[in-house]
Amino acid sequence: MKTLIEKANILLEALPYIKAFRGKTVVIKYGGNAMVNDTLRSKFAQDVILLRYVGIKPVVVHGGGPQIGQTLAKMGKESRFVRGHRITDEETMDIVEMVLGGKVNKDIVALIQKHGGRAVGLTGKDGGLFHVEKLLIEDDSIEDGPPEIIDPGRVGKVVHIDPEIIQRMDDGNFIPVIAPVGVDGDGNTYNVNADSVAGAMAGALMAEKLILMTDVPGIQDEEGNLIPSIDREILKEMTRGGIIHGGMIPKVEAAGAALEAGVAKVHVIDGRIEHAVLLEVFTQTGIGTEIVQ
Ligand SMILES: Nc1ncnc2c1ncn2[C@@H]1O[C@H](COP(=O)(O)OP(=O)(O)OP(=O)(O)O)[C@@H](O)[C@H]1O
Ligand SMILES: [Mg+2]
Repeated sequence: MKTLIEKANILLEALPYIKAFRGKTVVIKYGGNAMVNDTLRSKFAQDVILLRYVGIKPVVVHGGGPQIGQTLAKMGKESRFVRGHRITDEETMDIVEMVLGGKVNKDIVALIQKHGGRAVGLTGKDGGLFHVEKLLIEDDSIEDGPPEIIDPGRVGKVVHIDPEIIQRMDDGNFIPVIAPVGVDGDGNTYNVNADSVAGAMAGALMAEKLILMTDVPGIQDEEGNLIPSIDREILKEMTRGGIIHGGMIPKVEAAGAALEAGVAKVHVIDGRIEHAVLLEVFTQTGIGTEIVQ
């Protein structure tokens, strides 16, 4: 009986969070590196379904770095990144679209369906969800010099979001699962960093929270210690100083964009922890790094 009462208490602990977040949108970036393990994948699907059943609206945006990397490697192509963005030539773009919009996206949709949720996969093309423009990357980490401009090829940035399709899916109780592939005004397809899409999406949907799941405990300082809470201005400094580099750069930029657009909270959490999403949403302390205005 005692353990049963304990169970009831655990459920009750979630009550204030359910009350606070009911009817609100939570955008979750599901990282490529956090989704390679089957157990973790199932727990993630369950978490997202639970959110939906308690009246929270999860919107999943996924990456797929390792999956794209493996496919490219099989074809003898090397993966190269600049400030967290994949250098994408025309041939790589086709592979990215096949892997992200096809395989990875449908795997996540099927997994949510298997666990009793309802999910629909989308890219930026579907329902005109988002439009992109070619991205030029500014590297300002070079000391005492002007920023270097790098052309990463078929890499886009989100310039417009039409959230209607997301609202329609919400009406039907479907969980949207978004692959970060989009088109520009001329119909050219672009690869977009998934963090960037998640940040833009959170802003456009006026989400309550943006959760960026990854393969590290959160944002780490120079010594590798986890930073539980941090100001976004300090993050800019840390990026200039090179403490934040590679795949963490688009996350920090996405966090900034989301906060600027009015999203209340952004979290970078460890997707290798089972039920990371539930722990973040339904507990007082949360996990990982919280980024504040
Ligand atoms: N200050 C920092 N703190 C923590 N991680 C950092 C930091 N600077 C750079 N990183 C790197 O960022 C990486 C996470 O980004 P990465 O793009 O590799 O994965 P992801 O975004 O989770 O997955 P995907 O790109 O496939 O969607 C970490 O593995 C780490 O190496
Ligand atoms: Mg990444």
